[in-house]
Amino acid sequence: MNSCIIGLQWGDEGKGKIIDILAENCDIVVRYSGGANAGHTVVVGDNRFALHLLPSGSVRPNIICVITNAVVVDPETLLKEIETLAQKNITLTERLLISENAHMVLDYHKKEDQLREESLGKNKLGTTIRGIGPCYADKVGRSYALRMSDLRNLEKLKAKLQTIVDYKNKIFAALYNIEPIRADTIFEKCKSYADKLLPFTTDTTEFLHKSIADGKSILFEGAQGTLLDLDHGTFPFVTSSNSSALGMSAGSGVPVKMIDKFIGVAKAYTTRVGAGPFPTEQDNETGQYIRDKGGEYGTTTGRPRRCGWFDAVAVSYSLTIGAIDSIALMHLDTLSGLDEVKICRAYKINGKETTFFPANTTKLAQASPIYETIPAWEQELTDVKDFHDLPKNAQDYLMLVEEMTGKPVTIIGVGPKRAQTIFR
Ligand code: GDP
Ligand code: IMO
Ligand code: MG
Repeated sequence: MNSCIIGLQWGDEGKGKIIDILAENCDIVVRYSGGANAGHTVVVGDNRFALHLLPSGSVRPNIICVITNAVVVDPETLLKEIETLAQKNITLTERLLISENAHMVLDYHKKEDQLREESLGKNKLGTTIRGIGPCYADKVGRSYALRMSDLRNLEKLKAKLQTIVDYKNKIFAALYNIEPIRADTIFEKCKSYADKLLPFTTDTTEFLHKSIADGKSILFEGAQGTLLDLDHGTFPFVTSSNSSALGMSAGSGVPVKMIDKFIGVAKAYTTRVGAGPFPTEQDNETGQYIRDKGGEYGTTTGRPRRCGWFDAVAVSYSLTIGAIDSIALMHLDTLSGLDEVKICRAYKINGKETTFFPANTTKLAQASPIYETIPAWEQELTDVKDFHDLPKNAQDYLMLVEEMTGKPVTIIGVGPKRAQTIFR
């Protein structure tokens, strides 16, 4: 059985928690897109892990962890993560595979991300400054890109780096008037990446197809969310990869036909970090209530997340383009204590009602949400173990989500811990 977990909103839906739970019955967990812009939280007992590049299955000692071709690997962040796990006696030796064809995020990518955002001022995208856009741009441009396999030939790498850094320095000087970056400093770092990461670097496509032939059970871990997809999200306020279900196949080299089940993860409300239209945003007391109660501050950047009501139009779009089978609805506990809860069932755009999400940002910015409102519940949900023990209003809320999205909510999150999860 192979499954894929996909974020149905603008990221941070709680994918890390679901992956960690489902990994218990799997052999392999695969990260196939994005980079260290992701921040996936896994809570095990008193330990809280924030994973950026390592698959969220990595905290379970028997899971094989794979990072495939379309992931942009920041070796520095990855090494830090491996070290953090080692400090908790979790070793990745013999169970981490990194694609030799994955591209590397190096210092100049992060610099470029930062300089571009700063120069855009109030028009910035609000990226995570993890060098994601610049690295993917180099990959698509091809001439100035470096892959993990380039670490295998340090002499060649040195020459390539010099060419790239000369080129970048010309751009940095012309556009941003900054001191040149040094190729030799980056090269020294690359030598240490080679020592430490080459033992993990291999052909992950071959490994995954052999594993499938051997009947292994694989869990594919989506990063970001469908609405941040480069081609199908709210461009330009998106990330630089195909973060919807559509990216799973291209990112991993495993055809979608081989996936038995796609599970979409959404919050019982909506959050977004960074800029861009957000029709159900509550930039008010309700939004603040959700932010405080849900701990809605970025896992990667610590930024306060923008909060708003559940948007069934947006989620239905993600379910549709991903052919998603079922929903894991997280953070139901966060809505306890509100007077009422709302779900957006349609948009009004230029006087016309629509239930199909317009990914076009100009149209989306004109959308005013049409809500269904139901009374909320006082009771805290963090100890509830069974759907039938949820307050009636919370049950009604879940059923309304199912009705509006047309998909079953089979997993319900009532807290960050593994045990705070209801299966239906
Ligand atoms: P991801 O990027 O999709 O993996 O999500 P993040 O880890 O960035 O953000 C989700 C946050 O919500 C983390 O702090 C989780 O520990 C937490 N979390 C996950 N599920 C639940 C839930 O059902 N209830 C509550 N209160 N917290 C949750
Ligand atoms: P996970 O996997 C939430 C957002 C950034 C910004 C936009 C572009 O934890 O759900 P980038 O650095 O990718 O160029 O930033 O995308 N973004 C995320 N938001 N969760 C994420 O990942 C995100 N990864 C990128 O905030 O708006
Ligand atoms: Mg996150």
